[in-house]
Amino acid sequence: MRRIGYGLLLLLLAGCGTHQQSVTNSAGTQAARIEILWWWMLGILTTIFVIVVGFVLGAVSRRRGGSEQMPEAQVIDSARDRRLSRVILVLVIMVILFEFGFLVASAIVTKYERGMSSKNPVEIQVIGHRWWWEFRYASSQPSEVVVTANELHLPTGVPILIKASSADVIHSFWVPNIAGKRDLIRPYQTSMWLQVDEEGVFRGQCAEFCGHQHAHMAFYVVAEPMNRFQAWLQAQKAPAKEPLEHKARQGRDVFMKSPCVTCHTIRGTDAGSRVGPDLTHVASRSFIAAGTLPNTRSNLMQWIRDSQSVKPGNLMPSMDLETSELESLVAYMQSLK
Ligand code: CUA
Repeated sequence: MRRIGYGLLLLLLAGCGTHQQSVTNSAGTQAARIEILWWWMLGILTTIFVIVVGFVLGAVSRRRGGSEQMPEAQVIDSARDRRLSRVILVLVIMVILFEFGFLVASAIVTKYERGMSSKNPVEIQVIGHRWWWEFRYASSQPSEVVVTANELHLPTGVPILIKASSADVIHSFWVPNIAGKRDLIRPYQTSMWLQVDEEGVFRGQCAEFCGHQHAHMAFYVVAEPMNRFQAWLQAQKAPAKEPLEHKARQGRDVFMKSPCVTCHTIRGTDAGSRVGPDLTHVASRSFIAAGTLPNTRSNLMQWIRDSQSVKPGNLMPSMDLETSELESLVAYMQSLK
């Protein structure tokens, strides 16, 4: 009993945490509607479940109680059975009507999402990769396009246009606190509108099984007021700063000579490949490896040395570097604020 008690306690604790991912804690306009629908579904389906279980238990207890009775008793019961059949028929019709009601309600919730628009919206391209997220903030000037990974900053209180696609297999973009899911199917581009109404940090997760590390394909949404969002965007537009510290400078040289440069972009340097995440401002992000590890010095060391031990199957090869080279490289990464 004590073990079961501890188990239940652990389950309860699983609901705690600062970066919650929850349909029942909506912070966005669509999510609020989805949440209402969700509670209605839970209420009605729970009622149906209780009624069905009640009938099953009733039938079982009747059968037990009546096992000694003989056929005459069953003949007397036939009128009652007919009544019961009618009750069941009514219940079945009610269930069908409720299901149809849910279908209509879901269509209305989806239609509302499609009805959002804005003349000059914040437009973000979301690209799903195995197994990380690329976010590109549109701009009329190509040099002003901001590219980041696994951390999506959104301004609150305005409609945002998301244009989403996949670079490889099917992924699904989902931030339960903000909006519904959207599947990303190559080579198509899909678009959706969303609006965040509350400030906060919310967890997003790929919601379509996409291979070995599907579970480690998360991201964080930082929802903030427009002025803070604009300040962030402005900072992200800047190319990487020349490292001041000697060690970080050595790290930059290691980066440029190692296989890192063949996959990543650091704007302001010669590194310009788009295979892996853009690292121009990697130190400004809270997590690495698509929400897998907090962005700390030791985690960066572990990730660069042997990312396969953290996230087997990911595209980044393990780096065969001397410890001093690795330390310099991490110092460089941490200078990219
Ligand atoms: Cu991407 Cu699951």
